[in-house]
Amino acid sequence: MLNLKDEIIKLKKKLNAVILAHNYQIPDVQDVADFVGDSLELSRKASETNADIIVFCGVMFMAETAKILNKNKKVLIPDLNAGCSLADSINLEQLRNWKKEHPDAVVVCYINTSAEVKTECDYCCTSSNAIKVINSIPEDKEILFLPDMYLGMWIKRQTKRNNIHIWPGECHVHAGFKYEDLVNKMKEHPDAEVMLHPECGCTTQCLYYSNGNLKVLSTSGMIRNAKESPYKKFIVVTETGILYPLKKANPEKEFIPADENAVCKYMKMITLEKVYESLLELKYEVVLSEEVIEKAYIPIKRMLEIN
Ligand code: 13P
Ligand code: SF4
Repeated sequence: MLNLKDEIIKLKKKLNAVILAHNYQIPDVQDVADFVGDSLELSRKASETNADIIVFCGVMFMAETAKILNKNKKVLIPDLNAGCSLADSINLEQLRNWKKEHPDAVVVCYINTSAEVKTECDYCCTSSNAIKVINSIPEDKEILFLPDMYLGMWIKRQTKRNNIHIWPGECHVHAGFKYEDLVNKMKEHPDAEVMLHPECGCTTQCLYYSNGNLKVLSTSGMIRNAKESPYKKFIVVTETGILYPLKKANPEKEFIPADENAVCKYMKMITLEKVYESLLELKYEVVLSEEVIEKAYIPIKRMLEIN
């Protein structure tokens, strides 16, 4: 029987390929990856790699970002159905119509958007640099922020700007966290620090309730924070895939999922078998037109320059 991990490593070497994986990927996939990280770190790695082929183990908007940053390289995604409910909450036509209502606004998109939508945006941002990106835009400029309403509300609160209009999109996984359940978890574990992803529907309410023991963080921000924090126990409010890299990096600490059913079915579509087949048959190639690559590169490049 084939040892898939060994075969993947051999193929990777033979093809001069690199495997990039998001923090929510299943443990087996994270274990064969050359780099595991959050959206911003993965974009950076994609922009720096010398490999000829990038196998992107994540969801489509992430693989598209890798392609936009490497138009002359082959970018593969092991399953074409690995989408994102948040990215699907706005399309090109909807954005064009929204822009018509605010012709002077600067458009900031979360990285969780399709390449097509990015072509109509001025700046891109991720959960780890959203505040920095917004603060780089002159205060008197009206902003259209899309597509995550919870991230948008949190940004508005943090930056104290009233001129940000927010698209009403959400991620089905993060919108599902309920304030009441989380408060019960906090009562159950008063000695834990809470690490919450800004896509969560309960972010604002939880910030009011917390006693200075709650941090809003990107997925890799959670891993870094768990290392540096004096706390030994953490309530983790995001997709459960993050528990694997959290435990790996902090074996002596305890991590309690806010909801063990918070699973992104799209992230879990990538399996070891599919990664192997992807390398073996060079599938599925991410294909974008020259025009889309050129235009979508602008907001991504601006974001990378800010950070
Ligand atoms: P991060 O950039 O924080 O990893 O988030 C990506 C994402 O899709 C969260 O649902
Ligand atoms: Fe998209 Fe939500 Fe899955 Fe992240 S967890 S990839 S935002 S559907």
